[in-house]
Amino acid sequence: MNESFAVRKRSRALDRKNRSQATSFLRGLELDVLEHLEFFQAFIREPASVGALSPSSRALALAMIEGFTLHRADTIVELGAGTGAFTGPILERIGKDTTFFAMELDRIHARGLKRRFPGLTVYNDSAERTLEYLSLHHKAHADYIVSGLPWATIPPDIQDRIMEAILASLAPHGIFTTFAYLHARWLPQARQFRHVLQQRFATVSTSPVIWRNLPPALVYRCTHPRS
Ligand SMILES: C[S@@+](CC[C@H](N)C(=O)[O-])C[C@H]1O[C@@H](n2cnc3c(N)ncnc32)[C@H](O)[C@@H]1O
Repeated sequence: MNESFAVRKRSRALDRKNRSQATSFLRGLELDVLEHLEFFQAFIREPASVGALSPSSRALALAMIEGFTLHRADTIVELGAGTGAFTGPILERIGKDTTFFAMELDRIHARGLKRRFPGLTVYNDSAERTLEYLSLHHKAHADYIVSGLPWATIPPDIQDRIMEAILASLAPHGIFTTFAYLHARWLPQARQFRHVLQQRFATVSTSPVIWRNLPPALVYRCTHPRS
């Protein structure tokens, strides 16, 4: 093989590699744009129920599950999964025998989740019915309940029913996480919600601010549910 042939061969191989990297970058970008579009459309349809303009960041998702031993968990439930910002990182970490399902009220989001995560169990229903779906899986409790629900915009009677369902569904040793936006932290609904958490759980800790989320957010980690 002469030298110029070898150089051309190497440059063609490099071209192919660059093209495939560019294609996967564009594909990733396309999926990201589609996810944001789907989320925004859901917000236009049901602003109160969706409660945010764009999906949570990976930084917030990781803060929601920090310290969880998901690979050893028996049962995990996600509430208000949206386009799957928390679902992806959870699925990446669960064990092969872990029971995991998501509850999502919006029909189009529920369909999108099934498309995005083939094999994921998604119930297109309200988080109020979590316990019924646990028993469908022959489970009395979940070890972890991860909530993306927009508490501030959920009417008080539905909030109460969801909170009852969470308390009934969480194992005594279980952990419940939920988040709040920093800018809304001192608004009356947000303060009332934190008060409810403190009444219903013996321990409620607050994470540092997740600045890499838009808007910046805090995670509430709740343990020892009071029955
Ligand atoms: C703020 S979005 C969060 C989505 C996703 N977890 C994230 O962080 O990007 C809230 C989601 O909760 C869903 N939702 C609202 N009320 C619900 C309920 N009662 N039961 C289940 N899902 C609900 C909405 O449809 C929406 O997809």
